[in-house]
Amino acid sequence: MSITEIAQALRTRVAGRVTQDASLAPFTTFRVGGPAQVLLEAESVDDLRAVADLRGDLPLAIVGRGSNLLVSDDGFRGIAVRLGRAFREHQQEGDDVLRLGGAVQLPAAARLTARLGLAGFEFAAEIPATFGGAVRMNAGAHNRSMADVLLSAEVIDLYSGQLRAVDVVDLGYGYRSSNLSHDEIVTGGAIRLEQEDSSVVAERISGYLRWRREHQPPGRSAGSIFKNPPQDSAGRLIDEVDAKGMRVGGAEVSEVHANFIVADPTATADDVWRLIWSVHALVKDRSGIDLEPEVRFLGEFAR
Ligand code: EPU
Repeated sequence: MSITEIAQALRTRVAGRVTQDASLAPFTTFRVGGPAQVLLEAESVDDLRAVADLRGDLPLAIVGRGSNLLVSDDGFRGIAVRLGRAFREHQQEGDDVLRLGGAVQLPAAARLTARLGLAGFEFAAEIPATFGGAVRMNAGAHNRSMADVLLSAEVIDLYSGQLRAVDVVDLGYGYRSSNLSHDEIVTGGAIRLEQEDSSVVAERISGYLRWRREHQPPGRSAGSIFKNPPQDSAGRLIDEVDAKGMRVGGAEVSEVHANFIVADPTATADDVWRLIWSVHALVKDRSGIDLEPEVRFLGEFAR
């Protein structure tokens, strides 16, 4: 089947929207990059099963909040899948368990926990991620991460179409990592919290947000570009090579935090890409440390 035929076949099967050659830039926090051949905004588990049935050997990309994603200027040759509104639901179970859909935004979920008088998810207030994306990469802040609160997740394999429930202990969680494959999409999950006074939870959230405003730059970025190496800090290492303010085209190493790259409206994905590897080379030369990108790359980039 041609890509257009696949898009047409998807349209007849799914409740969600199918678009051809839709720019992915608006779905990323860098706001750069080209189109996906096909973009599906899934509105049901059956929509996701349809992708598995129809994709053949086409590459597939799962796009969450896009806050950890650099899409190539040439775009992505394959099917990009986002979770639509139907996956933004939440439900409290018993006193202390909250069930969240994969497309729920973490800051909104954190504010919800404050309203419900549930503590333990305050760190999520400053993470621009969807719940599904955060589960996948064990997102975290302030020495807390998804691994500390998650009970289980529902995952669909976009190759086989199989849905499974995974307990947190089976996710193989490490620092910013899990054992989920690139074909698996997290459609929802459950977190366990502790009852606490709403105003106390809200105050902790405000404290985190204040901290973020003081320590991390505003603007178009993807948060930390590199993972922290063991017992060290990528920000410190990049600062040490005086890379703050370094520019390629419209991309700049932030003066506020060296592990952030901020893209101005003229930036291209190629600018960001080249700046990332220039910074990487400087740190490698100075300290011998091979920083590992935390940002995910989608599509083809010049090596
Ligand atoms: N530092 C510098 N220069 C800089 C920036 C930082 O010397 O320009 C030093 C700081 O002085 C500090 C150390 O590096 O001693 C660590 O910096 P910071 O406290 O800002 O934390 P981080 O390790 O850079 C991590 C996460 C952030 C998260 C914060 C707060 C990683 C790669 N980053 O940052 O997560 O918000 O802690 O918990 O783990 C993200 O993953 O996208 C992200 C933003």
